[in-house]
Amino acid sequence: KETVVSGIRSTGKLHIGNYYGAVKNFVQMQHEYNCYFFIADLHSLTTHPTPADLHGNVKHVLVEYLACGIDPEETTIYIQSDVPEIAELYLYLNMNAYMGELERSTSFKDKVRGNPDNVNAGLLTYPVLMAADILIHKATKVPVGKDQEQHLEMARTFGNRFNRLYNQDYFPEPYAFSYSKNLVKVPGLDGKGKMGKSEGEGNAVYLSDSPEIIRKKVSRAVTDSGPTAENQEKPEAIQNLFDLMKIVSSEDTLTHFEDQYNKMAIRYGDFKKQLAEDMIITTTPMRERINEIAADTSYLRQVAKHGALKARESAQKTIREVRELIGFKSF
Ligand code: TYM
Repeated sequence: KETVVSGIRSTGKLHIGNYYGAVKNFVQMQHEYNCYFFIADLHSLTTHPTPADLHGNVKHVLVEYLACGIDPEETTIYIQSDVPEIAELYLYLNMNAYMGELERSTSFKDKVRGNPDNVNAGLLTYPVLMAADILIHKATKVPVGKDQEQHLEMARTFGNRFNRLYNQDYFPEPYAFSYSKNLVKVPGLDGKGKMGKSEGEGNAVYLSDSPEIIRKKVSRAVTDSGPTAENQEKPEAIQNLFDLMKIVSSEDTLTHFEDQYNKMAIRYGDFKKQLAEDMIITTTPMRERINEIAADTSYLRQVAKHGALKARESAQKTIREVRELIGFKSF
């Protein structure tokens, strides 16, 4: 079986972008592959969370993984900081990651633009830590959304450099994966760009949002004053809502509103109502399980402990081999 690794940062609750971009693939892959799914709490330290926030957010992701249907019997679910071997591999990979290429990464440039007061070294070497997450289990497939594609390319670069230096084919090459033809990019509700936690209130629909909140967010989504010609190309804000409908609604529903738009007969109120109801239908089973699982602390403790043991077993094997390749020897 091929090995699969993926993770989500513990920076808050999961939104439907995380679900359709990543977690939905995790759930499907767990039966076919040797899977490791983790909570990237080390990555979340770049924004300096308080200890209480950090712990709460790790719990959110763990609970939501389970609520989405990731089965801890079938896969290895773990918390990144429970596996210190990852940090060790990160140190080794850092020796062959160059300033210039790290500075050129789009996610780094975006972070610098977004928060010029906190350009720490952890942000710069974020893709190296991500490469360590993947290479520590020698994974070949990494289910992620479109926004992570460049990070995967960097992971291949760092793995290949290690191979060239020490052993031609130690680390296999990891590739981004999705069951759909292309990697997924779920748009937000603010009329521009992708759904994200940091794009402002109301842009993201969370798996744990109640039906009332979903209706309110969708009703406030950015639109315009309607099409001005038949069969016209849709402006970004409108196209985004159609893209969301394509993800959560049936094909008939989508075609119906496409036709209405093309005939200039669309009523955005009805369109948004339908979109909200279909989002509610797709998220409700997960929301209900989130509430149940969150209450069961002893189960969560058991899942995290069991996962950490399994993940460390695999990580320790890699680190033993890596240390030997590098030339660390005892006297
Ligand atoms: P993060 O925590 O930002 O996002 C987690 C996953 O959700 C996907 N995603 C989206 N997909 C489609 N549309 C969206 N609007 C959307 N927003 C988020 C992301 O692509 C990702 O798959 N660096 C990673 C976490 C990470 C990781 C790893 C992933 C750390 N180490 C190793 C894979 C392997 C990140 O910040 O994802």
